[in-house]
Amino acid sequence: MKHQSHHDLSHGKNQAVVQKSPKPVLIAFFTLFFLTIFIPLSYPSINYSSFPFQSITNPPPPYDHHDYSYNHTANLPSTTTISSNASTNYNKCNIFSGEWIPNPEAPYYTNKTCWEIHEHQNCMKYGRPDSDFMRWRWKPDGDGCELPIFNPTEFLELVRGKSLAFVGDSVARNHMQSLICLLSRVEYPVDVSIRPDFNFKRWRYTTYNFTMATFWTPYLIRRKESYNGGLFSLYLDEFDEEWTNQVEEFDYIILSAGQWFLRPLIFYEKGNVVGCHYCLPDSNNNATELGVSYGYRKAFRTAFKAINSLKNYKGITYLRTFVPSHFENGLWNKGGNCVRTRPFRRNETQLEGETLELYKAQLEEFRNAEREGRERGLKFRLLDTTQVMLLRPDGHPSRYGHWPQENVTLHNDCVHWCLPGPIDTWNDFLLEMMKIDLH
Ligand SMILES: *[C@@H]1O[C@H](CO)[C@@H](O)[C@H](O)[C@H]1NC(C)=O
Ligand SMILES: *[C@@H]1O[C@H](CO)[C@@H](O)[C@H](O)[C@H]1NC(C)=O
Ligand SMILES: *[C@@H]1O[C@H](CO)[C@@H](O)[C@H](O)[C@H]1NC(C)=O
Ligand SMILES: *[C@@H]1O[C@H](CO)[C@@H](O)[C@H](O)[C@H]1NC(C)=O
Ligand SMILES: *[C@@H]1O[C@H](CO)[C@@H](O)[C@H](O)[C@H]1NC(C)=O
Ligand SMILES: *[C@@H]1O[C@H](CO)[C@@H](O)[C@H](O)[C@H]1NC(C)=O
Ligand SMILES: *[C@@H]1O[C@H](CO)[C@@H](O)[C@H](O)[C@H]1NC(C)=O
Repeated sequence: MKHQSHHDLSHGKNQAVVQKSPKPVLIAFFTLFFLTIFIPLSYPSINYSSFPFQSITNPPPPYDHHDYSYNHTANLPSTTTISSNASTNYNKCNIFSGEWIPNPEAPYYTNKTCWEIHEHQNCMKYGRPDSDFMRWRWKPDGDGCELPIFNPTEFLELVRGKSLAFVGDSVARNHMQSLICLLSRVEYPVDVSIRPDFNFKRWRYTTYNFTMATFWTPYLIRRKESYNGGLFSLYLDEFDEEWTNQVEEFDYIILSAGQWFLRPLIFYEKGNVVGCHYCLPDSNNNATELGVSYGYRKAFRTAFKAINSLKNYKGITYLRTFVPSHFENGLWNKGGNCVRTRPFRRNETQLEGETLELYKAQLEEFRNAEREGRERGLKFRLLDTTQVMLLRPDGHPSRYGHWPQENVTLHNDCVHWCLPGPIDTWNDFLLEMMKIDLH
């Protein structure tokens, strides 16, 4: 019996997952985890200061985590190889293999010029003392290989008359807010949301007739909450119609999923329980522990199947790959924090453990979906942020997502990303990939 996600949440050398915890501790811990991660990821605007933060006395015992050696060269997806310069097509660059280099010209917006920075990601407002974390850009490997800085006018011209859907959790929303801020130098969108729901926003750029929407679906597939709202049942072979029924008309879909899979889960297939992850003894009828990537893999399989079965969909689908959190020196609720102020060099860290396992699982499902999609003319593209963001432990709000005196549950946020910050680079990648697809 493994417990909850600290494995991934406490990144790097400090990985730990509960094994064989006494039940009361397990449940208390799980409840706390729910309050801490679930609430901020789903309803960042609510006041969660009243939840008990100190209620756990027994920290989980250390977890014997496995090291995986990983050959980046061998595993980097070939689909991301694109040309850096249209006039030198023979010069192939993998834009996702590279390093962060200083960029004194950044940032390209501030919390004063952009109103769409969400409170919990408004790091400057909450007194983050350093600002160097905003001043890096991604340099792909290879002479002549560059990732151009996002150009808002170029982007808006490119998406004129089109629409883009972000499908995922609050990190997908974080990404959209970065895009809104980067575009704010040219135009602000108007809110044309159909639902009065923070999780399902729709924005329109009137000058460019461009529509952008978020669909909140932390698991991408049908889910049901049970066990006092803390445990999720995942129907691994069933669509989440809240988004699958809505995205057919979109020209671009950016699909992603992450930290929510690191929680206690019960898996259903064909309506029956097939197993669980971080199984809770009371609530899953002795189901089998299936490991962290089982549900993740199947969820992507089903989400891709939904997209490939949309009759009138003609868009380009981007998989924005798994991005690890960066808690160090403790678990997320045990003083774990992300206090670094510089990116890692690539020789200072590596993909391993659950991050690597999840990443590999989603790549495999992506490749299968891409193959099936190709038969009916659908394009799938990899927005391969995993390694890129692994190198950015310095980009999270940490304790600067709220006032110091505020008594909040997720004291140190090492999951979401400050705005402005390294997540802005995801839009550099996005624009570059969109341009390649036009040629
Ligand atoms: C934070 O809130 C919890 C629960 O309301 C309380 O027990 C704790 O003492 C508070 N901590 C601080 C530093 O105010
Ligand atoms: C990694 O993979 C590349 C390409 O397959 C190969 O040339 C290289 O020798 C491998 N490196 C290691 C350390 O296995
Ligand atoms: C593309 O490559 C050509 C020839 O090397 C060079 O003259 C040109 O400046 C490059 N363009 C860009 C945008 O890098
Ligand atoms: C923006 O950040 C500054 C600190 O750099 C802060 O004083 C200000 O209140 C913030 N403004 C908004 C609108 O968040
Ligand atoms: C705006 O774009 C939509 C497609 O997204 C198109 O159907 C519509 O005709 C466009 N409207 C104008 C005024 O160009
Ligand atoms: C689970 O297994 C235990 C021991 O094997 C058994 O006593 C219990 O009845 C089982 N519970 C369910 C719901 O099947
Ligand atoms: C990583 O590489 C850089 C530059 O190549 C070098 O200066 C540094 O010492 C290396 N760090 C480690 C931990 O190997």
